[in-house]
Amino acid sequence: MYRAQLLAISERIIASATISEEIQYAKQLSDFFAQFNLENDETPLQKKTETIIQGGVALSFAEAAVCLNDYLRAVRFIKGTYFAIEELKEKFPTEKLNILYAGCGPYAPILLPVLSLLNNNDVDVVLLDINECSTISVKELLAKLNFSNYSIEVICSNAITYKQPELKPLHLVVTETMFRALISEPQVSVTANLAPQITEGGLLIPQEIKLSLGYSFFAKEPFLQNDNTVFDVLIEKAPKVYNKQVKVDTLFSMNKCYNFFDAVHYNTFKFESPLYEIPKDFANYPDVCIYTDILIFKNIKLGLAESYITNPYCVASLFNFTNHTHFKLIYTFKEIPNWTYQLK
Ligand SMILES: C[S@@+](CC[C@H](N)C(=O)[O-])C[C@H]1O[C@@H](n2cnc3c(N)ncnc32)[C@H](O)[C@@H]1O
Repeated sequence: MYRAQLLAISERIIASATISEEIQYAKQLSDFFAQFNLENDETPLQKKTETIIQGGVALSFAEAAVCLNDYLRAVRFIKGTYFAIEELKEKFPTEKLNILYAGCGPYAPILLPVLSLLNNNDVDVVLLDINECSTISVKELLAKLNFSNYSIEVICSNAITYKQPELKPLHLVVTETMFRALISEPQVSVTANLAPQITEGGLLIPQEIKLSLGYSFFAKEPFLQNDNTVFDVLIEKAPKVYNKQVKVDTLFSMNKCYNFFDAVHYNTFKFESPLYEIPKDFANYPDVCIYTDILIFKNIKLGLAESYITNPYCVASLFNFTNHTHFKLIYTFKEIPNWTYQLK
C-alpha cells in the first residue's frame, strides 16, 4: 500500500509542469513521509544535535527531516535525479548503475521516490549519512516501503572521506549538503571527495552550483522566509530581483570537473576572487551580495529565492570599505565554510 502511494506521488512529481503542481506534489510527499512518524522520543537530544566536522556542519536528524519542506528544492532534485538516471541507462545499457546518495537524511527523499519508478535490477544504491539516527530511520523506512528486493546499502559514514569500492564504479552521485552561498554545510568538501570518484561519463547531481557577486540593497532582494504560507507566494509570482542590483562577476561554478579537489590536495581549502574596484556611488546598492544558482540537471534549476539554499547572502556593506579602492572575496572551507573579504 505504501509503495503504491509513493509511486503515485512520484509519477505526479515527474510529470509536474508548473510551480503550483510542483508545490502541491511536494506537500503530498512531505505528508507521505510524515505518516511514518519516525520521531522517537527516547533520544530527542541526539536527534537535535548537529555534527561538526572538518568541512562544515552536518544537520541533525530533525533539521534534515525539515529540509523536505523546502518544496521546490525537493521536487526539482527528484526530477533532476530521475532524468539523470534515464540518461545514464541509455549511456550504460548493459551495466547496473551504481548510485551514491551522500547526505540522505532520515527519509532519503531525493532517491526513494525515484527508486519507486525504477526496476530493482536497474540500480545498485548506497544511501549514506553521517548521522546515525538518520541511517537507522532510512533502514526502517526501506523495510516499511518494501524495498527489500532492491540492492540498497545504508551506511553511516562521512562523505568527505568515503571511498567507493573500486569494483563498483560510480555512475551517479547525488548530494545536497549545502546552504546559500555554500556557507556552513560541507557541500564543497563532499564534492571535492566524491566528484573525482565518478566514472567517465557518469553524472553529479547537482550538475553545477554557480556563485556570483553583485551589489544590491540586500533587504530589498527576494528572500524565501521560513513560514508555511511562503510557497503560496511563489505560486502567484516568481521572485523578482531588486531592480537596481548590479551583477559584478561569477565567482566560481562548481561541477564534476571543477570540484575543489586541488584546493584539498594542496591543503589551501580556499577560493580567492580577483580584486574588484569599489564603486564610487553605491547609494542604490550598498551591499556586497553572493547569489547562488543551482543547475540540478539539464534544464531543471533552482534560482534566486526559490529555495532556502538559493536565497541571497550578504557578505558586507560597501560602507565598511571606505578609504580603500579595491576588495577581494575569500571563501574557506577547511572548517565551517565561510566568506570573508580583504581590502586594498
Ligand atoms: C540538507 S540535509 C538534506 C537531507 C536530504 N538529503 C534531503 O534532501 O532532504 C543534509 C544531510 O546531509 C548529511 N551530511 C552532511 N554532511 C555530511 C557528511 N560529511 N557525510 C555524510 N552525511 C552528511 C546531514 O547529516 C543531513 O542529513
